[in-house]
Amino acid sequence: MALTFKTRAPRWAGQPSTFFLLLNACLVTALIHYWTTGLQSSHHSVSVWVGHENEHEHEHNYQQAPAPSPPACGLEDAMRAKYGEDILARSRAYEGSNARLRRVLRDARAGKPIKIAVLGGSVTKGQGVKRHEIWANVFADWWKQEFPDAEMTMQNGAVAATGSRYMSMCFLEHVDDDADIIFTEFAVNDQRNEPNAESFEWLLRQLLELPKRPAVINVQTFGLGYAQLTTGGDVHIAFANYYDAPLISLRNALLPQLLETRSAAPSYFAKLHTGVTDFKHINNRGHQMLADLLIAYTQRQLCTLSHPTSSHSLSLPSYDNLPVDVEGIPPLRLFQNYNDPPAPRLSPYCSSTRTLKTPLVPAFNDGKWENWTFTATGGSAKTYIRATEPGAKIGFKVPVRGGMGRVRVSFLQSSTFGLGICKCWLDEAKDEAVLVDGFWQSPLNLAGTQTVTNKASIGEHMLWCELTGHTRDPEGRTEFRLIGVDAA
Ligand SMILES: *[C@@H]1O[C@H](CO)[C@@H](O)[C@H](O)[C@H]1NC(C)=O
Repeated sequence: MALTFKTRAPRWAGQPSTFFLLLNACLVTALIHYWTTGLQSSHHSVSVWVGHENEHEHEHNYQQAPAPSPPACGLEDAMRAKYGEDILARSRAYEGSNARLRRVLRDARAGKPIKIAVLGGSVTKGQGVKRHEIWANVFADWWKQEFPDAEMTMQNGAVAATGSRYMSMCFLEHVDDDADIIFTEFAVNDQRNEPNAESFEWLLRQLLELPKRPAVINVQTFGLGYAQLTTGGDVHIAFANYYDAPLISLRNALLPQLLETRSAAPSYFAKLHTGVTDFKHINNRGHQMLADLLIAYTQRQLCTLSHPTSSHSLSLPSYDNLPVDVEGIPPLRLFQNYNDPPAPRLSPYCSSTRTLKTPLVPAFNDGKWENWTFTATGGSAKTYIRATEPGAKIGFKVPVRGGMGRVRVSFLQSSTFGLGICKCWLDEAKDEAVLVDGFWQSPLNLAGTQTVTNKASIGEHMLWCELTGHTRDPEGRTEFRLIGVDAA
């Protein structure tokens, strides 16, 4: 029976090569475009500068020795002294136009109140560090010094052990919808597969569509305790590019040195209560560096604002007179075909045990499901609706507001907690029930999501789940831990 949903995997299996071919093509095109347009503009400025007589000669020289350019941005003394410009440059995995961020920075300089929202996993929640050491808080402290006259509020909506599959439907449970800047941190909690990439894209689109057109900045941490050095964050880069949402990577800036001097690695990661290094969670030094990279990045954008002659700050009509909305959102998702209709705007419903806004409360419970909180030593509390007895049945009201017709459940996956298989269906369609398996082979304990249906009509539905007696747990246990229900 468990095979039923394992068949979901092959749908994506043949895709990555095509995906990376496209990604490569995009990068090459972008490079060629950058190179050619860069060359054109230097020709232009040189001919204005030197006049016609010896234009040719100077034009040649220009390639060797650039004329004095606007003050270099991003070389703020403190950060350059600390890390060096090479490392700061490497950290900027995608820089982009920064049209939205520069608008927000102008507002902050003008003294307008600014709201910053943060979404991410346990690193951003602060596992292994003190509250004031969390990268987002270090950044906030810098911001308050930089903009002493503008009120700033930061909302940290990180949820441990969840990735963008959960957050793409549930982010509004964790942050308000009126942020000016939103940081995402999903590189390590998203495993490297295409369903996660698709969720990350939905998340980015919805964040960019929020009322205040927030600047979305992707922050990537990394770990040495994962099966591979590459994680879901590497697939996110394509979306950062397509949506022009900057990406700052701690791995880019730090991993090369740690590979060269392996003995230095533990000094950037937290310690478990046993004294063993937790290579999944950076410590205060790692958080400080991540914050510094982000601060250096923001200073670089501030610098372009202060030097309006720099090419970055010119808001030009687009190349070839094609209109462009630099703050706009492409109508198509990157996962769509060119001839597809525009992607719908989603208005997801999300109900979860991890939030107070729309807590997961059953409309039906046979009494065998209970609210249950688990706190690992040194970890944060995680709440579930749990059952252990086969046959336990629970029901939730689910409003479907349209866009995808999709209803999903979120639940815990683990290889060690003795998790079994639940059966979930919508309304009366018990014969189309899907199996939701809490057991998986991965050593990680992570929230999973499973689609119950992709063809729900708009309106209110009932989602039913019933614990089966089946399990893949080697000890035959049948516990199940529900986290949430979502629909879009
Ligand atoms: C969990 O607690 C809430 C609030 O007390 C309650 O309304 C809800 O029914 C409980 N859920 C379960 C599964 O017992």
